[in-house]
Amino acid sequence: AAPTDHESEAATISQGAVEKNHAGYSGTGFVNFDNVVGSYVEYTVNAAQAGTKTLTFRYANGTTVDRPVSLSVNGTAAGTLSFPGTGAWTTWKTVTKDVALAAGANKIRTTSTTANGGPNADKLTASGVADAEAPTP
Ligand code: GCU
Repeated sequence: AAPTDHESEAATISQGAVEKNHAGYSGTGFVNFDNVVGSYVEYTVNAAQAGTKTLTFRYANGTTVDRPVSLSVNGTAAGTLSFPGTGAWTTWKTVTKDVALAAGANKIRTTSTTANGGPNADKLTASGVADAEAPTP
């Protein structure tokens, strides 16, 4: 994993499981959100200074149905993210969104908004910020 990778398996997980059964993930696994509204993964991203950063979420969705999530930054709603089907659970794609981060630690939470839960979540990268979770060199 690159120094700026925030692996989902190292994040705070509520109603989800770390799994390894679909190849192509980075790090040591991915998070399978429980198929319920409200399951979430929360990443901690350290920003050296406040500003707009691009968040890039790497995911897989082997279904043909979108797996949208709501996004919050430090507890404040920051819109929604669409995670459409990628064609297979082993096909990983990225979705990006620009958000305002504060200086220091930022809590980036993605929460399922449908009964299908979120996608399989591999990692989050954030442009221009240092990693907060002891990256693997
Ligand atoms: C399958 C797949 C899981 C996925 C799940 C889902 O069980 O193997 O990786 O998370 O479907 O639909 O959420």
